[in-house]
Amino acid sequence: MSAPANANDLLAEIERIGADAERGGYTRPVFSSAELELRSWFESHASARGLDVETDGNGIIWAWWDVSDADRRGAEAPGADRPDRRGAIVTGSHLDSVPGGGNFDGPLGVASALAAIDLLREKGVVLRHPLALAVFPEEEGSRFGVACLGSRLIAGIVAPETVRALTDEGGRTFADVATGAGFDPSAIGPDTERLAGIAAFVELHVEQGRGLADLDQPVALAGAIIAHGRWHVRIEGRGDHAGATRMADRHDPVVVAAETVRSLRAHTLVVDDARGTVGRIKVTPGGTNVIASAVDLWIDVRHRDEDAVRRIVSEVTAATERAADAEGCTVVVTEQSFSPTVSFDPALRSRMQAVLPDAPVLDTGAGHDAGVLADVIPTGMLFVRNPTGSSHTPAETAGPEDVTAGVHALAAVLENLLT
Ligand code: GLV
Ligand code: MN
Ligand code: MN
Repeated sequence: MSAPANANDLLAEIERIGADAERGGYTRPVFSSAELELRSWFESHASARGLDVETDGNGIIWAWWDVSDADRRGAEAPGADRPDRRGAIVTGSHLDSVPGGGNFDGPLGVASALAAIDLLREKGVVLRHPLALAVFPEEEGSRFGVACLGSRLIAGIVAPETVRALTDEGGRTFADVATGAGFDPSAIGPDTERLAGIAAFVELHVEQGRGLADLDQPVALAGAIIAHGRWHVRIEGRGDHAGATRMADRHDPVVVAAETVRSLRAHTLVVDDARGTVGRIKVTPGGTNVIASAVDLWIDVRHRDEDAVRRIVSEVTAATERAADAEGCTVVVTEQSFSPTVSFDPALRSRMQAVLPDAPVLDTGAGHDAGVLADVIPTGMLFVRNPTGSSHTPAETAGPEDVTAGVHALAAVLENLLT
């Protein structure tokens, strides 16, 4: 067997894919050429390791290291021609990114999973459970708006017909984009049988805050993910001429949007540790000398208490509606996705803690597929120190030694779960 891969080297292999010269960092939306290239990169590494690679109806890649018949104890195989994949341990993450994101959010978990397999094999670990590496599509929701779309689909948390009709910035539906990328959109939807075969999912991820940097530790276990949701706000007014239209005659949706942004800041600030963000605004038609006819903006609100999230959004909605009335505009607020507070499986975490007794337990404000899947299967997470504490920006980073420490931590946890 060749030497185990170094996850830092694996990440270096993809550092040009989806590099965004304009924004800096990486832009790798689901089903873009960059994301498809990353998927192929992963598949070729998985195949080179003799893993059995398949893509399910939801576009999730699964790369299987099966238990050999000789190593299987007790369980009856489902058929000679089909490996028994019940009781599987799964690890992995995602390869899509936000616009102008870093090279670690997602790919670190995928590269670490490949490197961890190599370590387990070098050590001669004999599997008692099958191991799968999984790559989830559209974790960021950057293209179609719904965060963790792949895990939501497989878990049955979002309706397939709703997903097929979602549109991207260019107005193309999920169904069209998926078809163009070689996927069958009629195949998306819940897969309870596959999930029933999974005993545990462990996702390794770069930390998206300064918890580990402040504690001077390389690796942590996840405690909880705070509740978060996304809403689309559509404000319509009346387009007109910037010079020829008197101020009293205007129905300007940008003025209303300004109130949405202002009131989100104000209502978030008064709730301890709440987070509210408007990171995307689209003004139509978007001319310096044109009064806009419409504004689309998206709000992201997070807090440990999901009722607090909903309260903030309803206050912001009310403030926006008042502003729209005053301006003679209309407003429609639509929920795109909502993720309740997640506490990761305590039994799995205790087991991980026994393997990694020095690792602190940290909560996070960032969403993850492991958080969505926590609803239906035992899940846990490992975080790797990010010295800048920044994420969703090119400033996101992880030191080479910490990346290696993360791989060793993941391999140790997997070994415990697999044997
Ligand atoms: C994903 O990283 C999110 O928390 O939005
Ligand atoms: Mn991520
Ligand atoms: Mn992210």
